[in-house]
Amino acid sequence: MVKPDCVETNQVESIKALVNASGFLIITERMLRLEESLARNFYAEHSKREFFDDLVDFMTSGPVAAMVLQKRNAIAEWRELIGPTDPSKARVSHPQTLRAKWGIDTQRNCVHGSDSSLSAGREISLLFGGSRSTGKRFMRGVSRA
Ligand code: TYD
Ligand code: MG
Repeated sequence: MVKPDCVETNQVESIKALVNASGFLIITERMLRLEESLARNFYAEHSKREFFDDLVDFMTSGPVAAMVLQKRNAIAEWRELIGPTDPSKARVSHPQTLRAKWGIDTQRNCVHGSDSSLSAGREISLLFGGSRSTGKRFMRGVSRA
């Protein structure tokens, strides 16, 4: 998912070009503005963290571009391409990554990446369909990471 900061600064096409050049297939995509309840659910694992309310405000502040990406070992490969959570650290240790190139700070870090196939199924369901079955359909045949 391209977060509101990088949609706002018109990076979606550049990011998609890198996605393609890195061997990912974009299976489906959608621009949407997250409702507050969806953003809270999406980041529920962080609901007790001090940054949670600010994060929800940011994630609902403008449209996001959500994509389902396909590649062998896609989750690890995508996490590799986006880089560390904190863009200022990414610029030092992983300068070629998306967050190093376009992230502003730890909150406005340009892109999201699912951290496991279980999260990917859940997140796809939240962003592309109302039911769990939507994520399961996309994740069918994917081995558990
Ligand atoms: P996290 O899952 O730790 O990072 P990642 O996106 O690399 O999987 O955190 C989720 C998001 O929460 C992160 O992308 C941005 C936000 N966040 C903050 O706003 N402040 C913080 O201190 C952290 C750790 C995360
Ligand atoms: Mg995470």
